[in-house]
Amino acid sequence: MPKRSGLVVARTRGEAREWHRAQRALGKRIAFAPTMGALHDGHLSLIKLGLEKADVAASSIFVNPTQFAAHEDLGTYPRAEESDLEKLAAAGCSFCYCPSPIEMYPPGDSTRVKVKDLSHILEGEVRPHFFEGVASVVSRLFLHVAPDVAVFGEKDFQQLLVIKRMTQDLGFGIEIVGAPTRREADGLAMSSRNAYLNTDERAQAVAVSRVMFATAAKLEAGEPIRAATDAATAELLAAGFASVDYVEARRADTLAPFGAETCPVGATGRLLLAARLGKTRLIDNVGFVRR
Ligand code: PAF
Repeated sequence: MPKRSGLVVARTRGEAREWHRAQRALGKRIAFAPTMGALHDGHLSLIKLGLEKADVAASSIFVNPTQFAAHEDLGTYPRAEESDLEKLAAAGCSFCYCPSPIEMYPPGDSTRVKVKDLSHILEGEVRPHFFEGVASVVSRLFLHVAPDVAVFGEKDFQQLLVIKRMTQDLGFGIEIVGAPTRREADGLAMSSRNAYLNTDERAQAVAVSRVMFATAAKLEAGEPIRAATDAATAELLAAGFASVDYVEARRADTLAPFGAETCPVGATGRLLLAARLGKTRLIDNVGFVRR
């Protein structure tokens, strides 16, 4: 298998398993951070966290077609394999799996994985195909790389919960670790899709984290949930967002609604939002605890 600055690059599941067996023979524990490429510091922080949890870090770069709807950005999703591999090597990653679509979904393939409870709400309501695509590809990546630990960013908090549930239900025996969201200096959550923002939109985008943190503070102080989230929606629209898909305060462990006017004292919640700025859809979330 080709190596770049200490990074082994595998293109087939056979090569991925060969690398896995070699690590096992050396007694190494493997941490895995799957990605769709166009790597930023948020991705590299997953590698760093992985290296705190295991002996070697592995990653993957695969723009997964099954998590995009026909009208979404599969064709234009940023791709930068060469520079991504350099960044991974510099971050101390030992292995990257870069399969082709046919390697992941062989001709005639008809198997999909669906996590029923969590996949139809919030992101799943707006992108009904999304979590089935994620669960299907992550389960395959887990089978091909067979790590001990897998690290996913809290930026995609619902995705993290879906993967935790899938891992538990299917008995993969992999420890799933959530990594804190990395932010730009002005608070915008790092995302490969931020590359779509033009200069004006990039300046407006800061409203997402500003409104989110202010709303979480209101919920912590016991402001009624609907008043706080409605005000957040209005502020995003006033800041130039074309539409707001949702601003929701949910229980952090299940993403179920609180079912009360205010969050109960001591409850741990997650505030999640998604809004569209021009052609770009931005999502973010933050945890809070009601005082
Ligand atoms: O978060 C992502 O980048 C993707 O959804 C993932 C987990 C790599 C699956 O394609």
